[in-house]
Amino acid sequence: MARTVFLGTGHYLPDKVVTNADLAKMFDTSDEWIVQRTGIKERRYVDFEKEPMGSSELGARAARAALADAGVSKDEVDLIIYGTLSPDKAFPGDGVLIQAKLDVPAGVPALDVRNQCSGFLYMLSVADAFIKAGTYKRVLVIGAETHSTGIEFADRGRDVTVIFGDGGAAALLGPGDDDAERGVLSVHLHADGRYWQELHLSYPSSAEMPRATPEKVAAGAHWPQMNGRTVFKHAVSRMPEAVHEALDANGLSTSDIKLLIPHQANQRITEMVQRRLELRDDQVFSNIAKYGNTTAASIPLALDEAVKEGRISRGDLVCLVAFGSGFTWGSALIRW
Ligand code: UT7
Repeated sequence: MARTVFLGTGHYLPDKVVTNADLAKMFDTSDEWIVQRTGIKERRYVDFEKEPMGSSELGARAARAALADAGVSKDEVDLIIYGTLSPDKAFPGDGVLIQAKLDVPAGVPALDVRNQCSGFLYMLSVADAFIKAGTYKRVLVIGAETHSTGIEFADRGRDVTVIFGDGGAAALLGPGDDDAERGVLSVHLHADGRYWQELHLSYPSSAEMPRATPEKVAAGAHWPQMNGRTVFKHAVSRMPEAVHEALDANGLSTSDIKLLIPHQANQRITEMVQRRLELRDDQVFSNIAKYGNTTAASIPLALDEAVKEGRISRGDLVCLVAFGSGFTWGSALIRW
């Protein structure tokens, strides 16, 4: 059976660079604190004065780049899978907005995935299953976030605000050659909903009547809430566990990994995961210093940069791993 291969990757980032010093002008923080605790130096934000746009536009631009990279026309796409935690609209799911922006033919399905930082792995697992089953041949997988309109630029929200950035990234997936060894070897997914309160945005809510009131918005109920220490603690154990699960399932070991691409959440998390897996520096990819945490876009953005920088060649073993809100986590192994 043909394995799923990456036919192309691409990303789109807004031009506006926001440094730690820029944030320190808005609330009580410092470049020193942010670099020391997260490794982040700057991030990109949509420039609402020059070119306003939401996540679906970032995602559509990233998708066009992935299609161009693959040399495949939008008319050949037969499934769109889109992940974001910052959709333009409550409904419909933004997947259809991307379909319209790209002018992907009518009738092609668009699926929305809501798994935050693990979104790309959840999307990859769905794409892989459809491709292996022979249902679809050109699956466009996209992750995009506009965090900058959903975070609080005040002392109260500073722990969340400093870590997130805007961006979009995409991959075009399809079946490889029948006899080739390359492609997606496995995807392992996990969740534990008992921890949803550790990182969430719960307002407006369909569980409240009315869904939104000016009083609750004035009190800040519409900002994300995070217990950073708990998220950190779980991330640094779940991510190595998920990497070992992937390697064990394929009879491989950490020394076989050419490049580990972890979800870019915090440089300290990445370093602890690296230490626990006993990987060398050259086996681990990081771009968090430039972009912060772009959630659903984080892994495909890192993957695209790694490919374009020549860090991955045909036949290399690439491991993707993520952990985030939900909690959700997972891993994937790809023979590139
Ligand atoms: O993709 C999943 C998404 N989320 C994550 O992965 C988050 C994982 N967690 C983290 O990255 C870290 O927990 C943070 C970077 C969010 C915070 O780092 P920390 O080392 O866990 O700091 P802390 O929350 O324990 O706070 C330490 C101190 C506190 O002050 P006091 O109580 O010691 O006086 C905070 O109020 O740092 C303070 N603080 C800040 N100071 C300056 C919190 N945020 C900031 C800030 N600037 N932005």
